[in-house]
Amino acid sequence: MKKIAVKASKPYEVLIEQGLLSECGRLVSEVTKTKFTAVITDDNVDAIYSERVISSLEAAGFRVVKFVFPHGEKSKCSDTLNSIYGFLAENGITRADSLIALGGGVVGDITGYAAATFLRGLSFIQIPTTLLAQIDSSVGGKTAIDLPCGKNLVGAFKQPELVICDPLTLKTLSPEIVSDGMAEAIKYGMIRSSELFELIASHSIEDYFDDIDDIICSCVSIKRDVVENDEFDRGERMLLNFGHTLGHAVESYYNYETYTHGNAVAAGMHMITEQAVKSGECDRESLEKLDAVITSYRLPLTVDAPYSGLIPLCSKDKKCESTSINAIICSSIGTSFIKKMPFEDFRAFMEA
Ligand code: NAD
Ligand code: GLY
Repeated sequence: MKKIAVKASKPYEVLIEQGLLSECGRLVSEVTKTKFTAVITDDNVDAIYSERVISSLEAAGFRVVKFVFPHGEKSKCSDTLNSIYGFLAENGITRADSLIALGGGVVGDITGYAAATFLRGLSFIQIPTTLLAQIDSSVGGKTAIDLPCGKNLVGAFKQPELVICDPLTLKTLSPEIVSDGMAEAIKYGMIRSSELFELIASHSIEDYFDDIDDIICSCVSIKRDVVENDEFDRGERMLLNFGHTLGHAVESYYNYETYTHGNAVAAGMHMITEQAVKSGECDRESLEKLDAVITSYRLPLTVDAPYSGLIPLCSKDKKCESTSINAIICSSIGTSFIKKMPFEDFRAFMEA
């Protein structure tokens, strides 16, 4: 089993091993005090994995209650959150008990936020089941719900007690959802590790699973390093936003209906790197390698929307300040920096 220790304000481990789901009861009992827990999941994941997880928890002596909500980003909202609060109250969950997030980033984000706020906070465990959740959202403590006017606008930093990552769960994902997560894996390689980038590039969407444990481990290690240096997102953590400022603008320009998050981030990484090549801040060979790997995971390099439509939306990104933007630029594969630019300079940079 691979173990990654995260030394955040509250330390915890990320455990990675194929088949780990069936051992979650024992693993959870090692990090929680009481034997009462609520599993929160969505309907898709419930149908495939709840039984295995709950059997393992019960075998380890837990009393388990389960809350299931409809899958999809639309459920990451205050209505679902209120239903979770009501369910926890009705079932007598106390501060000494714990929540278990079983699912992708939607389940992890809303369960984490419920854990941060119900009874002013109780502990929670992440059992991520999408690639994106395994390499990104389950680690680092960002939790949130969406508002009708924007994504992730209400949230809290709340670190989990433990992250249990079973790569075998990825086998039941559609290739499109794997590709979406792979955009974030490519991002980690671009900002911090040419070795990880080359490992990802040595595969494609057809055979990505052959080295999946190493890919996950490498991504989580990078996220761990970044989070340990800047848990509350005031500096270095912004590097994780590579491709995201434009990516969020793409998602928003198309009303979150045409491009998934990973597809939008892939195009965002290409677009900003293409401009960095023009400004002399990145070499052309790195751009060509980035484009090849994006394409081999069936992700897009561009979108039809013009920069004149995307750039105003970039200023709405949470990582922006009132008159400037923190652009993340890769100078070569594995090396990145934050370039703080007034909006007008960013516009000129993008439209060059
Ligand atoms: P998701 O949670 O919606 O999961 C995608 C789909 O896959 C859903 O339909 C789900 O039911 C299904 N699914 C999940 N696991 C499955 C499995 N093993 N087999 C079959 N189907 C499965 O989406 P996601 O991409 O995992 O997460 C996206 C969310 O994560 C967004 O809300 C985003 O804002 C958030 N996010 C949070 C952070 C963070 O740091 N907290 C980072 C990145 C993204
Ligand atoms: N997913 C970006 C972050 O955790 O900061």
